Amino acid sequence: MSISELKVGHLIDEAEKKLKEISETPRLDAEILLAKALGTNRFGLFTKYNEEAGEKAEKLFASFLARRMNFEPVAYITNEKEFFEDTFFVDQRVLIPRPESEFIVEKAANLLKNSEKAEVLDICCGSGCIGLSIKRATACRLTLADISVNALEVAKINAARLFPASTDISFIQSDLFGNISGKFDLITANPPYLSERDMENFVVKELKFEPENAFFGGKTGFEITEKILKSVHKFLKTGGHFITELGFEGTNFIDKNYDGIELSEIIKDYSGIDRAAMFKKI
Ligand SMILES: C[S@@+](CC[C@H](N)C(=O)[O-])C[C@H]1O[C@@H](n2cnc3c(N)ncnc32)[C@H](O)[C@@H]1O
Repeated sequence: MSISELKVGHLIDEAEKKLKEISETPRLDAEILLAKALGTNRFGLFTKYNEEAGEKAEKLFASFLARRMNFEPVAYITNEKEFFEDTFFVDQRVLIPRPESEFIVEKAANLLKNSEKAEVLDICCGSGCIGLSIKRATACRLTLADISVNALEVAKINAARLFPASTDISFIQSDLFGNISGKFDLITANPPYLSERDMENFVVKELKFEPENAFFGGKTGFEITEKILKSVHKFLKTGGHFITELGFEGTNFIDKNYDGIELSEIIKDYSGIDRAAMFKKI
């Protein structure tokens, strides 16, 4: 069969067989990549199942597949990742948003449901997915901060796309709280939390494409979280909250006595794994 006669369904089946070698979700990957090559979404793809893809889309799909076979994550190939209620622009400047971080957004939305224009700071913001999703749910005033200028560029792209008319989102390049001033009703963080050993054991294949400083949390993995926990009280209003995502067994590292805050809740995910910790300013 010549390249331009292949049908959409056939292309998916063939790609799935190849992708089984490198991916745990071969069919899903194939569908997302072919949908992108055809300029449609997965639903649109199913309506074209028995149609020819066309030469241009086939060539583009072949180039996407080659990248995926080299372990590049699907989200970097499509430049898109769904998170909470929105689709975020992503590229190699930022961590790909993970569904488990949505627990922070849900908790934040609940905390702020009766507040008008709460002041929210998302440090270690990366793509901005956590802070911008909290804004989607609560219409807060939002500050996004990250040490990486590159990550902040991506956060700005997402803010401009998702809230084009908004004037109450600010961006600060900051090593943790270094350049932050003012006090907030809520501070969120998904800090880097992998240990030296985790970096060696887990940051391979797909994860090698993501920024190293989004993962590495110091020797034990808890160093950056600990630094945040020691100074976050200075940036919270009285009664304000801090929610941080935790690494594997992160609860074991949490000290009960940080200045000015107390642990109010450990947030578990649907599998019962500790995902995040919430603190309240005292
Ligand atoms: C695990 S990623 C989280 C990104 C995003 N919040 C998310 O959930 O997808 C951690 C982020 O922390 C940033 N980061 C690392 N060290 C930092 C520091 N010392 N101060 C501020 N941000 C830092 C990285 O650039 C990265 O964007």
